[in-house]
Amino acid sequence: MCGIMGFSGNLKNESSVGVVLNGLKSLEYRGYDSSGIAYYDNDDRLIKYIKKSGKLINLSNEFSCIAPLNSDVAIGHIRWATHGKPTDENAHPHIDCSGNIAIVHNGIIENYAALKNKLIKKGHRFTTETDSEVIAHLIEDYISAGKSFYEAVRLTSCELLGAFAVLALDAASRSIAAVKFGPPLVLAQKGDNLYVASDISPLIEYTNDVIFLKNSEIACFYDGKLDITTFKGKKVNKTITKIDWDASRAAKSGFSHFMQKEIFEQPARILDAFSSRVMFNEGTKDNVINLNKIKIKRAKKGFNENTQNSFNEAFAGLDISLEGLKLTKNDIVNSPKIVFIACGSSYYASLAIKYMMETICGLSVIVEYGSEFRYENFPISQNDIFVGISQSGETADTNSALEVAKAKRAKILSITNVPGSQITGLSNKGVIYTHAGPEVGVASTKAFTTQLLCGLLLALYVREKSGFMPGYQWLNPRNIFKNLVELPKKMEKILFMDETLKDIAKKYYKSSNFLYLGRGILYPIALEGALKLKEISYIHAEGYPAGEMKHGPIALVDENMPVLFLLSNNMLSTKTISNIEEVKARGGRVIAVADYEPEIDGLSDLIRIPETLEVLSPVLYTVPLQLFAYHIAALKGTDIDQPRNLAKSVTVE
Ligand code: G6P
Repeated sequence: MCGIMGFSGNLKNESSVGVVLNGLKSLEYRGYDSSGIAYYDNDDRLIKYIKKSGKLINLSNEFSCIAPLNSDVAIGHIRWATHGKPTDENAHPHIDCSGNIAIVHNGIIENYAALKNKLIKKGHRFTTETDSEVIAHLIEDYISAGKSFYEAVRLTSCELLGAFAVLALDAASRSIAAVKFGPPLVLAQKGDNLYVASDISPLIEYTNDVIFLKNSEIACFYDGKLDITTFKGKKVNKTITKIDWDASRAAKSGFSHFMQKEIFEQPARILDAFSSRVMFNEGTKDNVINLNKIKIKRAKKGFNENTQNSFNEAFAGLDISLEGLKLTKNDIVNSPKIVFIACGSSYYASLAIKYMMETICGLSVIVEYGSEFRYENFPISQNDIFVGISQSGETADTNSALEVAKAKRAKILSITNVPGSQITGLSNKGVIYTHAGPEVGVASTKAFTTQLLCGLLLALYVREKSGFMPGYQWLNPRNIFKNLVELPKKMEKILFMDETLKDIAKKYYKSSNFLYLGRGILYPIALEGALKLKEISYIHAEGYPAGEMKHGPIALVDENMPVLFLLSNNMLSTKTISNIEEVKARGGRVIAVADYEPEIDGLSDLIRIPETLEVLSPVLYTVPLQLFAYHIAALKGTDIDQPRNLAKSVTVE
């Protein structure tokens, strides 16, 4: 929630404000109800600032009206309001009484009321309703008591309770300090220039070498020199992490919206997620299938489908390497339960992965919302395996739930898209990166499908590591591999149906309600499809298990209620077709997404997608639902990349 960006240094063609404005553009997905920048004006030798409610464009317009700036240091903020309305006044930066200190803050200061009262009694004047303003006055208070800027920031940090990532700008020393306790902060130093931001997306334009601040660390940058200490003042030597993200991936590249671009990127990102991690080896070197070339050699050995032994033998040819995962055979076989923790789309991905794990590994899996889990009396044992799934790796609800499990010494691993994010630090059993690259659209697309894929890899890995615990479904490993390899091409085929989906969207975009129904592994995809529609088109949509329709939602069905069914050619298809007939009998309009040609009369629309294995099918069924939601939102003219009231990364409870 909220994004912060700071710059200190000297660039030939750009002032610090330009760099910060540019950085805030990349962070706008984190919040967009107001924004502001404070900068040190080299000519007038003082801090100046502009802050504006509304989208970032309002702030850029204000800056474009003033003369070119001569400034080397600036800090900026993009807000998603928690304390105080999103007005100009409440927007960050916040300035102390003297005008010499400016701060921007991401997080919540839980003891702000007590601090504010104390500071007011000492004569400080507050001008906003925010919790954040106390930080500026507290720093000022310490400076008035004779402390240096760094010491004042350090002592202030020790007094704050809650969660905070703060940038502070000091006019006297022209330095900036960055403080982390909770929300993320990433630094990058290039020569005499320092860039600092809430995540890596604004930094990769300048360098791929970054430093992740840890909790209770302060970075102070003055005159080209970076010092990092703990809150106790102990010097810290940090390692530089190389990020393999490509800056061009964070651009729209000719698409109308980031979301559209990210939908169309999926075949490539899916390939990135599995290409170096899966091999199929039937014994001899010649039979190793080269995934990078997407070539599949025909198997030589026969394959007996009837016995578990032969299954295990052949399964052994499927080699899953998940770099950095430290889950051992003992961890798996001694684990009473596997618990997935997530929020939003990541929660729905977890539900689909539960089916994969149960099918492939025969293990029972529990899926919990991070926000609920924290306050439940959930029995946790140190042998339990917890898997956190989070695109950003910064979702407070997910991370706090994992902290609860970690405190009970449970084993933690995570699936995330963002290197160095907070969830990675919590994961004592390793991290599976989704390799989706920066996702800018607030509604998750490529992050979701790569999470599904990584979940499948985890299931295959667990099965392999555990010495082949029998899964409930017989799966031919060669077939898994073949279908994995074909997945990107099949996704492309669905993307070629874009115009068809647009035409279908034209028929429905004026509807006020939708039902999305699916069974088995497609039920979570119905939930995700409904969520996509809600998020970006503001149309009310509900996802339901198709079999549950008769227990309530059927009461809603009439000619004004489009019902979207996810239909697969498996043993549940006849049951789902009965549900379709029940909707038709009540005058409902039926849209079906199916991987075969179902014999049903009177379907309003059929979206025919390629067939794949059931455990892989969520990846394919998700794509038409994304396109459908996208086109409906485009027809309604909503703000697709930044839907109202949402933020991509929710770092507060
Ligand atoms: C927010 C976003 C959702 C996202 C959820 C979880 O609510 O708007 O799109 O699914 O957070 O985010 P995470 O980064 O943990 O996957």
